[in-house]
Formats: sequence, structure tokens, C-alpha cells
Amino acid sequence: MLVVYFSSVTDNTHRFVQKLGLPNVRIPLRLKDEPLVVNEPYVLVCPTYGGGVSLTHENSRPVPKQVIRFLNDEHNRSLIRAVIAGGNSNFGTDFGKAGEIISGKCKVPYVYRFEMMGNEEDVRICRGGLLDNAHKLGLQKQAS
Ligand SMILES: Cc1cc2nc3c(=O)[nH]c(=O)nc-3n(C[C@H](O)[C@H](O)[C@H](O)COP(=O)(O)O)c2cc1C
Repeated sequence: MLVVYFSSVTDNTHRFVQKLGLPNVRIPLRLKDEPLVVNEPYVLVCPTYGGGVSLTHENSRPVPKQVIRFLNDEHNRSLIRAVIAGGNSNFGTDFGKAGEIISGKCKVPYVYRFEMMGNEEDVRICRGGLLDNAHKLGLQKQAS
């Protein structure tokens, strides 16, 4: 079970992922950093940065560009099994929008969304859900 995540300098998603207590790896913040390549199935945890696209109707992109770059790598994309999104419910229908977009494009289930760094209940539900459904989601490491 691997958790791949992106988090900006505010580190909310980073804090949530560390509380899950599962093996994890972070997508680099700077585009000049060495790109991340993964070699086992993973669940992606991604914060939303659209600024409320549905309300503003501006051409903003809810999925951070670092995550788009990671998923543009066909090998990385072939190993995504589920997506979890971070966000803020102040954004209404756009709360966790990045999860909808990634789910649609990569054809994987959008299994959970949480606000900011998540609370205790988020951590309990999310960790339990991932561990209980690891097999069904295809998140177990394949024998090499
Ligand atoms: C410029 C900006 C735009 C945002 N747009 C959205 C949004 O459209 N939907 C949403 O749910 N959260 C939105 N958020 C909230 C972030 O997803 C939230 O703060 C998240 O915890 C940031 O994670 P990070 O600290 O790991 O980068 C936005 C935050 C900022 C600063």
C-alpha cells in the first residue's frame, strides 16, 4: 500500500498523510526538482487549487501542475488505483474538485475528501477504508 501525495508550502496535505501512518512519497514542489517515478500501485492524495472554478467561471485548474506532470508520465498513471482530495468546504460545489477531475481522467474511484489537514475522524475513516479495501482497490503490491 503506497500513498503518493502533493502538498504546497502550507503542508496541510502533508500533515494529513503523515497522520495516516502508511508508506508514502511526496510529489516534488518545484518543477525543476527530479520528477517522481513510482513502481507500485498507489492511492493519490491531492489538494484542490481551483479557487472555486464553478463559481468564478474562470479558466483555472483545480489540479496542481505538479500533479498533472506526475500523471502525464504514462508509467505513473498506469499505477494509480484511487484518489483522495483535500480542500476547503468554503468552496461549495468545488470542495475537493481535484478528486473529480483526476477520477474522471484516470478512471479510478474518488474514495474520500477531507478539509485542510483532516481531523481525527477523517484519519480513522480514511486509513480504515484504505486498509479494509486494499485488495478490492488493487492497492496491494504485486509480486515481482
Ligand atoms: C488559491 C487557493 C485556491 C483554492 N481552491 C480550492 C478549491 O477550488 N476547492 C477546494 O476545495 N479547496 C480549495 N483551496 C483550499 C486548499 O485545497 C486547502 O487549503 C488545502 O488544504 C491545501 O493543501 P496543501 O497545504 O497541502 O497545499 C484553495 C486554496 C487556495 C490557497
